Amino acid sequence: MIQTLRTTATAAAVALAFGAGAATAADDTPFGGPESQEYAATLWQALTEERLAGDNAIDGVPYRGTEPHGAMLETFFTTMTVDGHTGMVAVKRNYGPAGVEQSAVQGNRAEHLGAVTVMFQREDGYDPDNMNWFWAKYLPDGSLDTNPAGMQLAGRVAKGADQGCIACHSAAPGGDYLYVTDFVR
Ligand code: HEC
Repeated sequence: MIQTLRTTATAAAVALAFGAGAATAADDTPFGGPESQEYAATLWQALTEERLAGDNAIDGVPYRGTEPHGAMLETFFTTMTVDGHTGMVAVKRNYGPAGVEQSAVQGNRAEHLGAVTVMFQREDGYDPDNMNWFWAKYLPDGSLDTNPAGMQLAGRVAKGADQGCIACHSAAPGGDYLYVTDFVR
């Protein structure tokens, strides 16, 4: 996996070095390129408007989490329109640190929020291999988190790698890449 990520990072860096004309090439990378970053910003805007993220986000009930997401989690499912396309969205707020109690999270969400991970089902053709899911991992302020190789975590994250969002979620029962829906079934 590390090898794959390094190669991708190098391709993106080379594309950026060649300026605007090369932006299209960077967009061809599975994740982290300019198109992915721009889409992630639009998605975050929609999430804050729907009050699924950001300072005015609605509260859910935090529950004990599993790795890798966090010690306490809140998960929301709904449909949302982004850039004229309406699709299903799954939003997971990841709270910590390890061992944190539900009451502590409820008492001060902002202090305990580590990341917001999101799956948004994009238009047909975006990523037919993986049900057109767009993946993003945001920090609480809406900026994108990065992996150890410095790649921004947005787009077809770690597509083709043996670890990461797509690899792990492709093992979710039912073949829909969704885990939580299986727990409540
Ligand atoms: C090693 C496995 C693994 C990796 C890697 C992983 N996830 Fe998950 N993800 C899970 C599990 C397990 C759940 C269910 C957690 C729970 O609520 O108890 C989950 C739940 C979610 C959910 C809620 C919808 C659902 O599937 O139930 C979202 C959204 C999500 N993950 C996004 C991401 C994103 C974005 C990434 C990459 C940045 C990522 N995940 C990486 C295992 C993983």
